[in-house]
Amino acid sequence: MAVEQTFFMIKPNGVSRGLVGEIVGRVERRGLKILGLKMMDVSEELAEAHYEEHRDKPFFGELVSFITSGPVVAMAVEGESAVSVIRTMMGATNPVDAAPGTIRGDFATLMGENVVHGSDAVESGRRELELYFTPEELGSALVG
Ligand code: RTP
Ligand code: MG
Repeated sequence: MAVEQTFFMIKPNGVSRGLVGEIVGRVERRGLKILGLKMMDVSEELAEAHYEEHRDKPFFGELVSFITSGPVVAMAVEGESAVSVIRTMMGATNPVDAAPGTIRGDFATLMGENVVHGSDAVESGRRELELYFTPEELGSALVG
């Protein structure tokens, strides 16, 4: 058990469907702390860097074009076991398998439009926070 920081993002369809308040509210009500939050456009360059691990997958092109299709809401989130707490709140990658009560299980049906992203480990969280936020934006909040 340890306090962790993670990167959490509402994907373009979550923003365009008006789910920002709902999703941010869930994070706050869970008791996690939002250290930084901004709405932003994701460039192709940033999308490719973010999803670097999937570069050779057949869905990479669709993933990049989806994530760059409209503004996202990017968040730096902190709390006890924040990485896994956020992942559990998100639900399974394929929303068809996501349990009711999870964000994907409540608001999505399509794998390619699964509403939210959350880092899968503390290390990837650190990397993604540094990709999406400048040091000035996070101030002294970022540990490590
Ligand atoms: P994310 O990175 O977006 O939080 O999602 P995740 O960890 O649950 O899933 P990951 O394996 O990292 O996949 C990243 C995104 O790629 C799309 N995907 N499509 N067609 C497919 O088999 C497939 N697999 C993954 C999903 O949109 C997933 O969120
Ligand atoms: Mg992932």
